Amino acid sequence: MANENMEKIYQEAQSEIASSESNEKLQELRVKFLAKKSIIMTMLSTLGQLPPEERKTVGQKLNEIKNLITAAIDAKEKELSAKELAKKLQKETIDISLPGRNYNVGGKNPFHVVKDEITDIFLSMGFEVADGPEVETDLYNFELLNIPKDHPARDMQDTFYIDENTLLRTHTSPVQARTMELAKGQPIRIICPGKTYRRDDDDATHSHQFAQIEGLVIDKDINIGHLKATLELFAKKMFGEKREIRLRPSYFPFTEPSVEVDITCANCDGKGCSMCKGTGYIEILGGGMVHPNVLKMNGYDPDQYSGFAFGIGIERVAILRYGIDDIRKFYQNDIRFLRQYKKKA
Ligand code: DAH
Repeated sequence: MANENMEKIYQEAQSEIASSESNEKLQELRVKFLAKKSIIMTMLSTLGQLPPEERKTVGQKLNEIKNLITAAIDAKEKELSAKELAKKLQKETIDISLPGRNYNVGGKNPFHVVKDEITDIFLSMGFEVADGPEVETDLYNFELLNIPKDHPARDMQDTFYIDENTLLRTHTSPVQARTMELAKGQPIRIICPGKTYRRDDDDATHSHQFAQIEGLVIDKDINIGHLKATLELFAKKMFGEKREIRLRPSYFPFTEPSVEVDITCANCDGKGCSMCKGTGYIEILGGGMVHPNVLKMNGYDPDQYSGFAFGIGIERVAILRYGIDDIRKFYQNDIRFLRQYKKKA
C-alpha cells in the first residue's frame, strides 16, 4: 500500500514538473512535494509508526523519491532559465549591417587658415596682437586718423551708423589710435586682425563685411626702409621665397608718404598674364609712414618719434593664396567649399 502510494506521488510529481512552464510554478511544486507539510515529508517523519521490518525499505524509497523530485525540479529550473535567456538574447540582437550615421565634417575656413598664418608671421617678427571694438566712434574711426568731418576720404568709407557718432568700423585703423592712447608715448609694435564693415553692394569681389590686419610700429628712427623690409619678409613667407614686392605712391589721410604694395604675380612669375592683367604684379596691401598729425593727435612728438603702418585685406590674401573666385564663399559655411581646404590646411 505504502509502495503504491509512493509510486503515485512520484508519477504525479514527474508529470507536473514536466508540464511546468515557469519558475513560479516550479516553486509551487517544491512546496507541494518537498516542504515540511508535504506527503513525502509527513511520511518520513512518521516512519517510526511503521512496523520495524517496513521502516527501512519505506524510508529508503521515500528518500529516493525525494531526491529524484528535487533533481527533476532543479533540472527543469535550469532548462527554463536557459530558454528565457535565449528568448531575451534573440529580442536584443544588434543588426551590425545597419550603416552608421553620416556626420558632415567640414574643415577650417580658409579665411581663418590665412588669418592665423599672417598673424604667426608677424608674431615671429616680434609684433604683438592688439584688439579694438567693431562698434566704433567717429573719433577713433576718422578724426584721430586725420580724416575730419568734411574730408572726401569719408565718401569711400560709408558704413552702418548706430547714431551720428557711433558706427561699425570701416577699417582696423582705429586700433592705431586706441593703441597709441594706451601706450602713452612708449614705442609700439602691434598687429590687429579683425572684422570691418562698409556700405557696399555684395558681389564676387565686394562684401559689406570683410576683415583686415592692421600693423603699426612707432619708435625713434623708424624709416620707410623698415616698412619695406617688414612687408617684403611678410610677402615671401606668405606667398613664397620667389615673390618680390614693389611700393607704388598712393594716398591715405593717416600716412605720409603713403604706398600701395604689390607682389610679383605667382601665376606668371612677374612676366604678365590674365591674372595680373598683364602687369606682372598684384596689389596686396596699403601702408605708409604714420602722418605727423596722427602722431601729434595721439600723444607722440613727431620730431622725436616716427612710425609705419599698413592694412592687409585678409580675404584678399586668402583669395590670392587659394585661387578663390568669390568673396561670399568665405561666409556661406558651405561644407563642400570648406572641405576642399581641409587637406591644404
Ligand atoms: N585703412 C586702410 C583701408 O582700409 C588701409 C591702410 C592703409 C591701413 C594704409 C594703414 C595704412 O594702416 O597705413 O583702406
